[in-house]
Amino acid sequence: MPHDRINWQRIRVGCRYVEKYLVEGLVSAYKFKHSPLKPLEVFCEITYNCNLKCPTCFRWTTIEDRNELGLEDWKVAISKLKNWIGTYNLFFSGGEPFLREDLIEVIKFASELGIPVSVVSNGSLIDKTLAKRIVSSGLFGLTLSLNSMNPETHNKTRGTAGSFDEVMRAIENLRERGKMKLNIAATVMSENIHDLVGLAEFVNKEGLDSINYQPVMPTSAIPILDENGNPKKLPPGTFYKTLGREPAVIKEVFDRLALMRGNGYPINNMPKHMAYMVRYLQNPEDPQIIRYPCKIGPKNFVIDPFGNVRICSMMEPMGNLLDADPKALWHSEKAQNQREQIRSCKEPCRLFTCNFKELDLLYQLKKMYKHG
Ligand SMILES: C[S@@+](CC[C@H](N)C(=O)[O-])C[C@H]1O[C@@H](n2cnc3c(N)ncnc32)[C@H](O)[C@@H]1O
Ligand code: SF4
Ligand code: SF4
Repeated sequence: MPHDRINWQRIRVGCRYVEKYLVEGLVSAYKFKHSPLKPLEVFCEITYNCNLKCPTCFRWTTIEDRNELGLEDWKVAISKLKNWIGTYNLFFSGGEPFLREDLIEVIKFASELGIPVSVVSNGSLIDKTLAKRIVSSGLFGLTLSLNSMNPETHNKTRGTAGSFDEVMRAIENLRERGKMKLNIAATVMSENIHDLVGLAEFVNKEGLDSINYQPVMPTSAIPILDENGNPKKLPPGTFYKTLGREPAVIKEVFDRLALMRGNGYPINNMPKHMAYMVRYLQNPEDPQIIRYPCKIGPKNFVIDPFGNVRICSMMEPMGNLLDADPKALWHSEKAQNQREQIRSCKEPCRLFTCNFKELDLLYQLKKMYKHG
């Protein structure tokens, strides 16, 4: 059964995280050009197509591209990585990943290889039938994006009437989900700052597995490729410009969330991460947050819908996974130069949760005690 195998894989992946924390703590691995580790987190943007029109994101402006990798290509890519790395965490995002009708097949394939797979989705397509297919695919974790318990605010920040009801329907349809984790991701901006506590209360009351808050980024930090496959910069959108309002409220809200986390609410963000988010949301140009280095260099692999591989999705590809050896790409001169650029990069996506993962045993124990 895929789930039983995944549990063993989780233990192996857990050991790799401990290895990462040790290597990072002892030798500051992110400071080296040559990574002493293999990739731990593989992020696949499986499609750039999307069916919502979030004003914070430019994905939905992408024209449908018929050259995206097919099912067999993804199987090759996943197997190549598995043969080299062994265990890794595989994430699918996009665009809207469930617009790919073969996503379930991709998940099944990876899960049967024993790879823990997670998907982040806007929830719009998860009717009863898809919910059943998701649960039986062996998916380890599904994250649904939800910005507010106020339908009007959620829909406004998702640029789509009816989006809130669709997320609620997806959660309802996934009530019977076996061991699969169901998480919420909320993008924090001025428009929903008053709603963040309510979201954590909802997650706790509904017995969902976790909530993760991520600060809104300028749209220029969302990689959109030009016709040559290179990231192109976009101007910051209106939502980004609304940051910095109500600085006292921002602090109050995150102090409350930190307390709730201390009391066992399943809030993923570490207190240190929340403190940085407060500074950023109060003033995106705060000099103290500028000093925090981006640490993704020794652990990230990002694959775009065409198979191009990057360490950071904003940088040029190192090569294509279909015709190159991933190990050679990981150790290539291009990768080494990019690691150097990454650690001094000042883009605000340094403040995403994946850059703030640390061991927090006490919190993990509290969560296990509360949720079994
Ligand atoms: C780009 S979406 C892709 C997956 C899926 N379409 C969804 O919305 O869940 C991944 C996450 O980024 C969030 N997001 C959108 N715009 C953002 C921005 N400007 N800054 C930070 N996160 C953003 C979304 O809310 C979602 O949780
Ligand atoms: S955030 Fe997700 S749902 Fe919204 S436009 Fe971007 S990819 Fe689509
Ligand atoms: S901060 Fe890190 S993830 Fe963001 S663009 Fe720079 S290197 Fe890439």
